[in-house]
Amino acid sequence: MKLIFVLFFSLHLFSQSKKDLSIKAQKDFLNLHFFENGRGMTISPNISKYLSMFRLTNDDLKKIPRWKKSIYKKILEDRYGLNVLDDQVAGLFNVKYKNMDVGVLGCVACHGGKAAGQFVAGLGNKIVDVYKIGVDAKRIQSTWGRFHNNPDFKEIHKVAMNFSNVISDSSISNLTRGLIPDSVIKTYFYKEAGVDYKGQISRAQVKVPHLWGLKEKRKTGIFWGAEFNGDEIGWEFGAELFASDSAEHFKAVLPKLRSSVKNIVYKFQAPEYPFEVDEKLAAQGKKIFNTSCFKCHGVHNRGLDGYPIYHQPKFIPVRVSKTDDDRLKDFDRYIGLVQSSSVSDILKLNIRKEMGYVAPNLWGIWSRFPYLHNASVPTLDALMREPQKRPQVFSMFDAGEKYRFDQKKIGLTLPKRRKQMLAKAKAGDRNIYYTKREGHSNSGHYYKFMAQFTENDIKSLVEYMKTL
Ligand code: HEC
Ligand code: HEC
Repeated sequence: MKLIFVLFFSLHLFSQSKKDLSIKAQKDFLNLHFFENGRGMTISPNISKYLSMFRLTNDDLKKIPRWKKSIYKKILEDRYGLNVLDDQVAGLFNVKYKNMDVGVLGCVACHGGKAAGQFVAGLGNKIVDVYKIGVDAKRIQSTWGRFHNNPDFKEIHKVAMNFSNVISDSSISNLTRGLIPDSVIKTYFYKEAGVDYKGQISRAQVKVPHLWGLKEKRKTGIFWGAEFNGDEIGWEFGAELFASDSAEHFKAVLPKLRSSVKNIVYKFQAPEYPFEVDEKLAAQGKKIFNTSCFKCHGVHNRGLDGYPIYHQPKFIPVRVSKTDDDRLKDFDRYIGLVQSSSVSDILKLNIRKEMGYVAPNLWGIWSRFPYLHNASVPTLDALMREPQKRPQVFSMFDAGEKYRFDQKKIGLTLPKRRKQMLAKAKAGDRNIYYTKREGHSNSGHYYKFMAQFTENDIKSLVEYMKTL
């Protein structure tokens, strides 16, 4: 009896600490950046001094009048898609370096996002528009650069200009907010090899993946397609590598990167569904899941402590998933460039016979909308239906806010005036996801057994997925 009590008590303590560890890890992630020795993901020096939303303290924020705050929100959140929190802009830092104020971006600018109004570090940013950031940064920085001659300034300015030039390149950048073009990472290897990337690479637009369960995920491979080997921690620096454009920087911060992944990212837990769940219906859904979906996604069980048990996910060829393949193009040449690069000892590839996507774990899936690697399906309900019946247009504006969350279908609310939105989408509106754009196809992930689903099957599966 005593033993059982002790066991129960220690499990309870353990479960407490997993949640606490995740909360602490999320805080640490919010403060993490990799600026070092003048190198990193930066904007031109001293611009950040004038953007006082860089690293405000709680006290500073209290002093700022409301009208000013709403201007920040308009610019940083509505225009660029950075998450403006109570006391900071997620992932923006102001670092002092050689008497300059350097604006630095951190991982959480992309790897932090809102769902149903709740901010979660480790969830992908649903609204960021790197193309728009690039276009404005390029314009502002090139004017700014004309007034400065100091060599320290010039060094950082040059890197910042390269960063904005690449992300504002309209031939490879993202067409819709909330999508990041993987092409920008590729540019690093093309440039290092002295090969022109123009016209050589697809945009490869993806949503930013969730980071919980990464330790198991990396055994299959890194990124949506798992083409990148996860034995070593290194590929997680991909976005920064092209931005800081320096292998020396990468190597210098590698120890910090490795400890950050282990001590911060590995501690993340999936966010719990914040609204009601119909347990009876969910139990029906679980049965269907464990007979049909588990073949690819595995079973989702919790340990005695109540927390998810993460398993290594499976790799599924695109021939089977039949989802958009824009992300998988142009790899033959890329493989060679990575293998002959100066970082080939750290960044390795998984060469398979076929390319494809990971069938990801579905913990916290309620928060990860829009669904699939290219964010092409707005709700879980739509993902269970045949592609022809899935919405063609939906808005990404304020995608993480509570008013945009559909508690029935789980995911984004759909437009009331579909025709009007379609017209705007056709005119190129970046706030609207339009499945006819390049790399935006919502096809695939519709298997034979799904054609047999009744309305109640779909409802119960969606209900079950709320519990994950
Ligand atoms: C510009 C936005 C951006 C920034 C900044 C960024 N990432 Fe990412 N990250 C992405 C995208 C997009 C992917 C997915 C790429 C893909 O799968 O094709 C990704 C993938 C990852 C993955 C792999 C996840 C998986 O499921 O395989 C890890 C881990 C990761 N990033 C960690 C980091 C860390 C740590 C930092 C800071 C050093 C960082 N990222 C900075 C956009 C970003
Ligand atoms: C044949 C393998 C396979 C089966 C069966 C399968 N899936 Fe998937 N699933 C995948 C793959 C692969 C992906 C990723 C595809 C992509 O992103 O392009 C995926 C993605 C998803 C996603 C989106 C994940 C995200 O982060 O956006 C959800 C949700 C999902 N599956 C649910 C289900 C459910 C529920 C079932 C059963 C009704 C099911 N899947 C059956 C392979 C499968």
